[in-house]
This record gives sequence, structure tokens and C-alpha cells, in this order.
Amino acid sequence: MKNLKLIINLIVITSSLMLFQCTSDYTAIPGQDGIDGVDGVDGLDGLDGLDGVGVQECIDCHSTSHREGIFDAYLTSGHGGQPGYSYEAWTRGTRESCAPCHNNEGFIDYIETGAVAVGGYGISNPLNCNGCHDDHRSFDFEKDGNDYAVRTLDAVEFRVFAENDALPDYVLDYGNASNLCANCHQPRRGTPIADDYPGKYLQTSGHWGPHHGPQTALLEGLLGAYTTFTLVEDIPAVKQAAHRTDTAACIDCHMRHTTDGSFGHSWNPTRNNCTDCHSGNAQDLEVAGLEEDMATLGALLEQVVGQAIDDNDEPIFEADGVTPVPVVGIVHLDEGDPNDPDDDEWHPQTGLFDLKDAEAAWNFLFILEDRSHGIHNPNYAKSLIKNSIANLQ
Ligand code: HEC
Ligand code: HEC
Ligand code: HEC
Ligand code: HEC
Ligand code: HEC
Ligand code: HEC
Repeated sequence: MKNLKLIINLIVITSSLMLFQCTSDYTAIPGQDGIDGVDGVDGLDGLDGLDGVGVQECIDCHSTSHREGIFDAYLTSGHGGQPGYSYEAWTRGTRESCAPCHNNEGFIDYIETGAVAVGGYGISNPLNCNGCHDDHRSFDFEKDGNDYAVRTLDAVEFRVFAENDALPDYVLDYGNASNLCANCHQPRRGTPIADDYPGKYLQTSGHWGPHHGPQTALLEGLLGAYTTFTLVEDIPAVKQAAHRTDTAACIDCHMRHTTDGSFGHSWNPTRNNCTDCHSGNAQDLEVAGLEEDMATLGALLEQVVGQAIDDNDEPIFEADGVTPVPVVGIVHLDEGDPNDPDDDEWHPQTGLFDLKDAEAAWNFLFILEDRSHGIHNPNYAKSLIKNSIANLQ
């Protein structure tokens, strides 16, 4: 059905171009002097290219053979709902607050109308071809470039800033289809602040942290927490990452330069992209010292002492009414399967903690949940973690 619709579309478009062609040829027939003025129509000749070569170009990209590798890759990807990071991620999108990022239909509604269905959705499906793709904005690829019919190329509001009146708004704009990704791959929570308890942070959630998709924030160099820190080294300013350039944003590393016919639809970054800028074995590129520093910081955070809270999020005291009931560790490591290091998971712990400890823990969870091992913004990641260690010690 889909193919039939497309072919009909192609026929309609091609024949309308042909009609256009005939009309302009007809009107251009030399005759009485008066008609000369019509020559202006020649400008339309630019369309000629589309007539012959252009339609072949359409067919090449729309052919089943061109798409086989794309489908194969998509069907093994996390976006396709395959067991990758967490295959449950796409079941969450029935809930209204999760639907914009965890449900194909929710995402489409969010992009097209600015909101998702009130009350959520009966079902939640993984992101599909038609979530990310829609219609071409123009068929004049020579002049306008080919937009690959990507659903949105618009700059994206950073939600954490938009939702917090105390912070100035911030717009993410990579100038290409990476903006599509930025709609979902951004944090849902802002950095910890002291609220009712001066100098302290009341941590009430078992899921605390920036949420699992803080990649845009790291690439941009935003949302590290260090208001209480004495800095032992500078933290790079916004937009300073070597990996955030006009030729290096999400799609450049995660989609382009593939040679396996997938055109990037596994979203695994290909190392072909790194060799543009890095010599040597790109396979082995890692951020020097970060893994060791993360282990050091994790161990320190497990020793941090705060005050336990009850079910109503109220800090609790011993029977004497003044001695706080201690809670040890602002984060905690769940070892999982002892034979599988990938099974280790860090969890935040609830309690009332010094703001400084909460800031260090936030930075730890931020770099962890970004999951690029600091690669998105090496200098920012290294310095956030180094400063966090120094301020805990
Ligand atoms: C480099 C690849 C590429 C080229 C070249 C290309 N397209 Fe597309 N086109 C796409 C993608 C990707 C979509 C998104 C929908 C899909 O997956 O089919 C799309 C969508 C469409 C749609 C909407 C389809 C629908 O089901 O609603 C039409 C119509 C279309 N293209 C026509 C054309 C025409 C006509 C040309 C040539 C002038 C062309 N395309 C050239 C990649 C391409
Ligand atoms: C702003 C977009 C956004 C919103 C809103 C959002 N998420 Fe996510 N979430 C993501 C992204 C992106 C990932 C995947 C990140 C990655 O692969 O690193 C993710 C991953 C997850 C995961 C998988 C991680 C794991 O540990 O299994 C769970 C679970 C999850 N989200 C739950 C939720 C729930 C529940 C809600 C609603 C209360 C929600 N998310 C709202 C963007 C969002
Ligand atoms: C996560 C979003 C996303 C999903 C899901 C997705 N695509 Fe794409 N696709 C893109 C982006 C972005 C590009 C353009 C990349 C670029 O500009 O280099 C693209 C490019 C393409 C192209 C052009 C490839 C070429 O010749 O260069 C085709 C065809 C295509 N997609 C088809 C599909 C099909 C079919 C599916 C479903 C199986 C699909 N896409 C799912 C984001 C997506
Ligand atoms: C509708 C929201 C949404 C959009 C748009 C989106 N993603 Fe994702 N992405 C997710 C969620 C949710 C996951 C977690 C799925 C899983 O792995 O279980 C994810 C997973 C990933 C992963 C990990 C893949 C894996 O196999 O675990 C990468 C890499 C990724 N996305 C990159 C991108 C890029 C690049 C783009 C833009 C072309 C993009 N995403 C667009 C929501 C989105
Ligand atoms: C300089 C290249 C580069 C850029 C730019 C880049 N990434 Fe990455 N990304 C990587 C590398 C390398 C990894 C680590 C993947 C691995 O372990 O092989 C990664 C990891 C990820 C992961 C976790 C994947 C997993 O399977 O654990 C997600 C999700 C992701 N990136 C999304 C994004 C998004 C969204 C953007 C744009 C905001 C982006 N990336 C920009 C190179 C890049
Ligand atoms: C546009 C050029 C460019 C591309 C593309 C690029 N890098 Fe880089 N990368 C740099 C520059 C420049 C630096 C060093 C300066 C900095 O970190 O600010 C760097 C630093 C790094 C570092 C940090 C080294 C350290 O110990 O501090 C790692 C790791 C890295 N890149 C990995 C990758 C990977 C993996 C890819 C491909 C997925 C990639 N890069 C693609 C330019 C690039």
C-alpha cells in the first residue's frame, strides 16, 4: 500500500513536471513580437534536471534494495525496540509525561502539535521510520539540498531551562538533522538546589539524576553542578567541545560515514568518522583517566553520610529527637551478576544531603547516564569529575 501510494505520488509529481515543461515550451514558441516577453519563463529550466536524472534519483533512494540494509539495521537497534540498553524503554510511552520521548505516536504528536494526548496512550510503540521521517520540504534537491524527508530540522528548546523560571531559556541548534535527536536525548531534571533546608539537598527519588538521555547537555557543556565547589581546575565554557562543530554533531558520528548499507540506522557510531580528525587506531580512543576517576568518585560517594527521610520526605531523628538518623551513601552500587561487569548498576539513595555532596553525585550520574564514557565532551567530563573528587576529599 505504502509503495503504491509512493509510486502514485511519484507519477503525479513527474507528470506535473512534464506538464510544466510542455506549457513552458509551448509558450516559448517564437511568434508575433508581443509574445517575446514570455521568455522570462526560461528560468523554470532548472526543473529539467528533475525530469530525467532527478526521477531516477528518487527511484534509487526509494527502491527496496536501497532500503534493505536500513531495515536490517533498524530492526537490531535500540530505537527499533530490540533488547539493547533497555528494551523496556518503549513500553513507558503510554504515560503522558513519558510519551514525547518513549512512544512513536507521542513523538509525532509532540513535534506536530507541541503536545501529546491528554491522559496518555493506550499503546506505546518503538520509534519507527515514520516517527523520524515525513515528507520532503522541497524536491529541488539541487537548489535546496535533500532533506531526507526528516520530520523536523527545527532548533529545540532545552526543556530543563524552559520549565524553570529561574533559568534563562536555552535553544539547541546543530543546524542539521541532529536537532531531531535533541528533542529526546536531553535531560529531564536540572541540577540540585538547596530548597527548604539551607546548604542541603533533599533527595526524594529512586530515579534521581538527569535521566538517561543527557547527551545534548554534555555535548553542549551544560548542566554540570559546581555552585558549592572550590574549583581545582577550570570547567570549559558552553559550546567549547571539539566534538560539537558544524561537521560533528549527533548524526555525523552516529549515522554518517557508514559503509554497510545501513546509512546509520543502527545508530552505533562508526569509527570511520573519527579518523577525519584522529590518527591511529580510532577503535581504541578513550578519554584518558576518566574511568579511573569515575571509580574513585563512585567510591567516595558511597561513603557520604546524610540524614534518612521518612515516607513523607521528612528528615528523621533518633529517639532523643536531635540526633539525625544517618544514611550512608548518596549513590549505591548494585553488583548484579558477579561474573558480568556490565551488569553493575549505580542507584541514587534518598535522604537529606549536603548540597556539595549532591552536586558531586549529580556530576557522577550525569557522566554515567550519558554513556559515551565522556567522549561527547572529554574536557568537560574530565574536569567535572576531577573537581567533584577534589571537593569531596
Ligand atoms: C536520498 C534519499 C531520497 C531521495 C533522493 C528522495 N527521497 Fe523521497 N523520501 C526519502 C525518505 C527517507 C522518505 C521518508 C518516508 C520513507 O521512508 O519513504 C521520503 C518520503 C517521500 C515521500 C512521502 C512518502 C509517503 O509515503 O508519504 C514522497 C512523495 C517522496 N519521498 C517523493 C520523492 C521524489 C519525487 C523524489 C525525487 C524528486 C524523492 N522522493 C527523492 C528519501 C529520499
Ligand atoms: C525528554 C525526553 C524524555 C522524557 C520526557 C522521558 N525520557 Fe526516558 N529516556 C529518554 C532517552 C533519550 C532515553 C535513552 C537514553 C540512552 O539511550 O542513553 C531514555 C531512557 C529511559 C529508560 C531506560 C533506562 C533504563 O535504566 O532502563 C527508562 C526506564 C526511562 N527512560 C523511563 C522514563 C519514564 C518512566 C519517563 C516518564 C516519567 C521518561 N523516561 C521520560 C528520554 C526521555
Ligand atoms: C531516529 C530517527 C530515524 C529513524 C527511526 C529512521 N531514520 Fe532514516 N534517517 C534519519 C536521518 C536523520 C537521516 C539523514 C541522515 C543524514 O542527514 O545524513 C536518515 C536517512 C534515511 C535515508 C536516506 C539514506 C541515504 O541514501 O543517504 C533513508 C532511505 C531512510 N533514512 C529510510 C528510513 C527507513 C526505511 C526507516 C525505518 C526502517 C528509517 N529511515 C528510520 C533518521 C531516522
Ligand atoms: C522519540 C525520541 C527519540 C528520538 C527522536 C531519537 N532517539 Fe535515540 N533513543 C531514544 C530512546 C528512548 C532510546 C533508548 C532505547 C533503548 O536502547 O532501549 C534511544 C537510544 C539511542 C541510542 C542507543 C542505541 C542502543 O542500541 O541502545 C543512540 C546511539 C541514539 N538513541 C541516538 C539517537 C540519534 C543520533 C538520534 C537522531 C538521529 C536519535 N537517537 C533520535 C529516543 C529517541
Ligand atoms: C564525536 C562523535 C560523537 C558525537 C558528536 C555524538 N556522539 Fe554519541 N557517542 C559517540 C561515541 C564514540 C559513543 C560511545 C559508544 C561506544 O561505546 O561505542 C557515544 C555514545 C552515545 C550514546 C550511548 C550509546 C550506547 O549504546 O551506550 C548515545 C545514546 C549517544 N551517544 C547519543 C548521541 C546524541 C543524541 C548526540 C548529539 C547530541 C551524540 N551522541 C553526539 C560519539 C559521538
Ligand atoms: C571534528 C574533529 C573530530 C572528530 C570528528 C572526532 N574528534 Fe575526538 N577530538 C577532537 C579534538 C580536537 C580533540 C582534543 C581536544 C578536546 O578534547 O577538546 C578530541 C578528543 C577526543 C578524545 C579525548 C582524548 C583525551 O584523552 O582527552 C577522545 C576519546 C575522542 N576525541 C574520541 C573520538 C571518537 C571516538 C570519535 C569518533 C566517533 C571522534 N573523537 C571524532 C576532534 C574530533
